[in-house]
Amino acid sequence: MTLAVQYLRTEYLENPIGIDVLRPRLSWQVTSIGRNQVQRACQILVASTPETLAADQGDLWDTGRVESRDTAHVAYAGSALRARQQVWWKVRCWNADNEVSGWSTAASWETGLLKLTAWTAFWIDHPGLAADTSIPEAAELDALLPASLFRRSFVVDRKVARARLYATARGVYEPRLNGARIGDQVLAPGWTDYNRRIQVQAFDVTEFIVPGENVLGAEVGTGWYAGYVGWKHGCRHYGPQPQLLMQLHLDYADGSSMVIATDPDWRTATGATRYSDFIMGEFRDARREPTGWDTSAFDPGDWSPVRTSNINAVPLVADCSPPVRAQEHIRPVAITPTGSGSYIVDLGQNIAGWVRLKATGDPGTRITLRFAEILNPDGTLYTTNLRGARATDTWILRGGGEEVFEPRFTWHGFRYVEVSGYPGQFDDTAIAGRFVGTDTTPAGTFACSDELVNQLQRNIVWGQRGNFLSVPTDCPQRDERLGWLGDAQVFVGTAIGNMDVASFFTKWMRDVVDGQAPDGAFPDVAPRAVDLSGGAPAWADCGVIVPWTIWKTYGDTAIIDEHWSAMERWMAWLERENPDHLWRHDRGNDFGDWLSIAADTPKELIGTAYWAYDARLMAGMADATGRDADARRYRELFDRVSQAFRAAYLHADGLIEGDTQTVYCLALHFGLLEEHQESRVVERLVAAIAAKGGHLSTGFVGVSYLCHVLTAHGYPEVAWRLLHKETFPSWKYSILHGATTIWERWDGWTEEAGFQDPGMNSFNHYSLGSVGEWLRKSVAGIDNAPGTSGFRLLRIQPAIDDSLAWAEGTFESMAGPIRSRWDRDGDTLRLQVSIPANTEAEVVIPARSQGEVLEGGAPLTVEVDGGLARLSIGSGTWEFTIR
Ligand code: BGC
Repeated sequence: MTLAVQYLRTEYLENPIGIDVLRPRLSWQVTSIGRNQVQRACQILVASTPETLAADQGDLWDTGRVESRDTAHVAYAGSALRARQQVWWKVRCWNADNEVSGWSTAASWETGLLKLTAWTAFWIDHPGLAADTSIPEAAELDALLPASLFRRSFVVDRKVARARLYATARGVYEPRLNGARIGDQVLAPGWTDYNRRIQVQAFDVTEFIVPGENVLGAEVGTGWYAGYVGWKHGCRHYGPQPQLLMQLHLDYADGSSMVIATDPDWRTATGATRYSDFIMGEFRDARREPTGWDTSAFDPGDWSPVRTSNINAVPLVADCSPPVRAQEHIRPVAITPTGSGSYIVDLGQNIAGWVRLKATGDPGTRITLRFAEILNPDGTLYTTNLRGARATDTWILRGGGEEVFEPRFTWHGFRYVEVSGYPGQFDDTAIAGRFVGTDTTPAGTFACSDELVNQLQRNIVWGQRGNFLSVPTDCPQRDERLGWLGDAQVFVGTAIGNMDVASFFTKWMRDVVDGQAPDGAFPDVAPRAVDLSGGAPAWADCGVIVPWTIWKTYGDTAIIDEHWSAMERWMAWLERENPDHLWRHDRGNDFGDWLSIAADTPKELIGTAYWAYDARLMAGMADATGRDADARRYRELFDRVSQAFRAAYLHADGLIEGDTQTVYCLALHFGLLEEHQESRVVERLVAAIAAKGGHLSTGFVGVSYLCHVLTAHGYPEVAWRLLHKETFPSWKYSILHGATTIWERWDGWTEEAGFQDPGMNSFNHYSLGSVGEWLRKSVAGIDNAPGTSGFRLLRIQPAIDDSLAWAEGTFESMAGPIRSRWDRDGDTLRLQVSIPANTEAEVVIPARSQGEVLEGGAPLTVEVDGGLARLSIGSGTWEFTIR
């Protein structure tokens, strides 16, 4: 059995520091090589020192043996914790045979400052900060400000036992201590509505402190706070210039302590970063960098005193999601000289991020980097779709040996880079792409025997990676990059299958609720900068769909409790405005089935369908959190709205108003029909697909349900044909034309019309990639059993089709890894399934009769009904063959 406990996490994070949850939820995984293993009981110890824990003592919390199957979200219920308290914990468990595991290795968590009053720091900024008008674009666009450098020295005269830095900015910052960069995050503190909450990062800096003089500093750029974000050169959404807030706590070995906080004693200057902006790019003049400014050898004699302002009432909250990091070095696949001394570098992959460039040249040598997702037919960069984004980095060499350029406070969406002014020989050792995004842990894979489908899956994952950067953005390249709720809600079911996005969406749901209007309407974008509208059907409904999806995936009910009243306000707003239960009024921007192809789905119908769906999800979430009366109320509301939907839009012959693929998908996927009406409506859907020559015509909204609906209602072969369609519009069409990410529009580029309107034509938009959810759920067949959540009780039911020889999916659930793989050899079908300890699954396989199904080579007795064999399995690896 070798029962073991591993992967200990606190509020989804491994060994976090600086958290502000006082009763954090603890999770772990149980592993065992045996089959059918469950945790029947467990014991958690939480101790105030590692030594106490090593002696198997839980002085803060010892649960003793608790009979419980729970391995996720077990709330700490020990002694109350103080600010800045580190605790250590471990777990052991018993299986059904009462065999006990060893103790897990120790993990820890540490609280942060917890209260605003624990901050003695002031916000500091550079009082004389102004655009460097010697640079033409900075003279023209005055929000292109130089980054501010801040520093302060302090003396350490005792042995340091522990040093913690708590830091944030109104802007984006990179902390420095004694010449070293602290941490590996970029673009911290991340984007929130800075008028409502600002995230704080906590760093363990014990090893950076030296005896004697030390220097703490930071470089701070404008970022989301004061730079350009969104369209039409919109900037300074939160304030005119960036500010820094830091507090360093030194705990000495002798029990005394010292705090170094941003205050009037700090000094400021500008350096190499002459401007740095998300949309416009970064300008670095390496000659302007004060050498060693963040070390004690430096004399800041001519630096200015900072301007301070008091910490105000805006909550400072712990950063609860994984950091944004610059990841991977992507080598170019081609470098083409242009003939005019420049080069076009092709990374072979459309990414979000920047490049790292090496060069040796004379002082003052100027290298310009321009970025684009795609090339014109003549091989030059196609940049018109970037709209107002300059997306240009400039680097001026200091001279005197090899230098390395990597920007700090910008990012671009690109596959191609034009390099001009490079001194000397330029080749692929000089440049590498760096992908930048929230570093969410991979949580799933999908692969099959069709290379184009595999490329689709890669494009979906790259679309996700390129757009999950602190918030789920629509696209990383043009002057937009907003957290559109519609895009996020259609994609969240796909996103969970690729990466662990639990804490990413936990954070972003707070942004969504921060953006809720006083009347209850959820916004269209979150954080609600740039675009202040709200309440659009299929966009604002995200405020209900995301918490529901996070609960279903991770078994997390806290996200429901946290946002229950916000979701209730949203539901109340809908009903107040629409007493006859059709969403006729207040549909805000009313985007409809955005970017569908010649198929206009009536917008009132979309709204009404989503309203009913919201009510259904609310009822499910009420059930999950013991809100019985609310569950009843929302079930009744669902009945009323779906009845109104049928009365208003459904005809007796199964036709639904609009007669688009999307109207049928909404009615069927959201369960708005009476059972006897469904078959006629499905036939209408199939006819609507046939009417388009077997093509899809859905936009963002319909596409996320299309294949699910066909599979669930008896037409999987139609879903497969849509998947494999190679002509326009289809997923494979863009792939056959070189796509390495999901395009915003089916017709982003077509053979007939070339590029779509550059006013809106991104080549890295994840929304139409929402079919990834179907690949996991239906092709690999990995899902929660109906009516359950948290992937503890699974349904493994792959949809098998002749178009594939094999398919395989994996998914890292809270309990551990799940894998499902099927392959066919002549008439024999093989299904391999592994599920983690403490889970069970119902496996559903096509079979004609009893006795056809073998497990591990031995015949199984199973019921076969309607061409399907159903069997229940416990944890472990299973191999079924059907002959
Ligand atoms: C964005 C979309 C978004 C839409 C609203 C666009 O500009 O890029 O993805 O959902 O506006 O319809």
